Amino acid sequence: MTTTRISHFSLSFDLFFSFSFLLSLLSTISLASSPSSSYLYSADKEGKTRALHSEILRNEAVARLNELGKVSDADGYLERTFMSPASVRAGILIREWMEDAGLRTWVDSMGNLHGRVGGINSSAQALLIGSHLDTVVDAGIFDGSLGIISAISALKVLKSNGKLGELKRPIEVIAFSDEEGVRFQSTFLGSAAVAGVLPVTALKISDKSGVTVQDSLKGNSIDIAEESLLQLKYDPASVWGYVELHIEQGPVLEWVGFPLGVVKGIAGQTRMKVTVRGSQGHAGTVPMSMRRDPMAAAAELIVLLESLCKHPRDFLSDSGSYSEFTMESLSTSLVCTVGEISTWPSASNVIPGQVTFTVDLRAIDDVGREAALYELSNRTYQICDRRSVSCIIERKHDANAVICDPELSSQLKSAAYSALNRMMGEIQDEVPVLMSGAGHDAMAMSHLTKVGMLFVRCRGGISHSPEEHVLDDDVWAAGLALLALLETHM
Ligand code: GLV
Ligand code: MN
Ligand code: MN
Repeated sequence: MTTTRISHFSLSFDLFFSFSFLLSLLSTISLASSPSSSYLYSADKEGKTRALHSEILRNEAVARLNELGKVSDADGYLERTFMSPASVRAGILIREWMEDAGLRTWVDSMGNLHGRVGGINSSAQALLIGSHLDTVVDAGIFDGSLGIISAISALKVLKSNGKLGELKRPIEVIAFSDEEGVRFQSTFLGSAAVAGVLPVTALKISDKSGVTVQDSLKGNSIDIAEESLLQLKYDPASVWGYVELHIEQGPVLEWVGFPLGVVKGIAGQTRMKVTVRGSQGHAGTVPMSMRRDPMAAAAELIVLLESLCKHPRDFLSDSGSYSEFTMESLSTSLVCTVGEISTWPSASNVIPGQVTFTVDLRAIDDVGREAALYELSNRTYQICDRRSVSCIIERKHDANAVICDPELSSQLKSAAYSALNRMMGEIQDEVPVLMSGAGHDAMAMSHLTKVGMLFVRCRGGISHSPEEHVLDDDVWAAGLALLALLETHM
């Protein structure tokens, strides 16, 4: 019998502790102990892999991930934004796969794709399993897609075993139309509509070309008005819970050498757009002392953001208004990013008239996030005053931190444990429990029902990059864990 190592590299827990980034996660991850040895997937192929449905859960799932990863609006890299032509093509493909798994399908008026099986009692509370089909720009192929494809594959196994009809409650897979918020800067357009927390004003948000959310749906023959948006909300009494499987997008599972982990909670996030206006002019003639340069001001603001988020205590301690809990949670979890910047008129011999940039700020504690935002905006206006430029800060998106449901999390833990046990024989260690710094549709769905999440290890913790990678065998483990979860609903 041959064996395959499943940990890319396994570090001792001492070494694990020495990574400064992970120090910040120590308060948010709990492990009973470090894995005593590298876990091994048994490659005693034939009988065992057949019994564990590797054809559907690994080979076909990986092939589908690769196929979906080629459905892009861009040449040479992956990009699918809300209602873009590639998103629509991706939806057609996923819909075929849902139907192949025995699901009844439909697209709702926010472009979400649903696939449902009724089970024994089609009016029982439904278990929803979902993730998103949109991507960032220059994306990897697993973010979002892995959760959708693994769920479809697990249901396909039940169908091929003739067991779909034995489910004691309806199971519905949802491929949400927008989680990344790339096109409209407002994330969760799809899941927030299903959860009933998307304001009707969202229909009027415009993208960079002035196309509104409503227009983008209309362009795809979906007529949505305020009433139809409100009707998208699911009745909470009709839903049992929401589960999302997702790549971790961070390094913890790889560093502890474990393929799957259970998510304890998701950090809250705020996205903003900052516009700095100054005086446009000639790069060769305006003396430095007479300039009102929004580019230099934006640079100072971005460095301020970095300093505040690296050392929140230095900026907030003086006020004395925040508890030690808030200060500590900020020190361990606050992360801030400027990911997009644009200038007008953007020419090398012109002092810009205007600079806009985005800010993405996240923290586990909502009070701490608000405190950081308050401090940031005060200091931003001070810098703008000193530089005689005008600054406008617009909050584009806010999502509070979410705590996953303990009962659902414990079901997911058992499902992950059982999947790994079936693949490797006895495993000694507990399935890791960790926090998510990344946002997920589960945040929006938590307004509707209890939520639980399972994370899948990814190489180097890299995501939002074409370098994103999940081992084929980890895709298999993910599908097997969802299958084990479904089996508890039979
Ligand atoms: C989604 O991927 C996010 O956290 O930005
Ligand atoms: Mn993402
Ligand atoms: Mn995602």
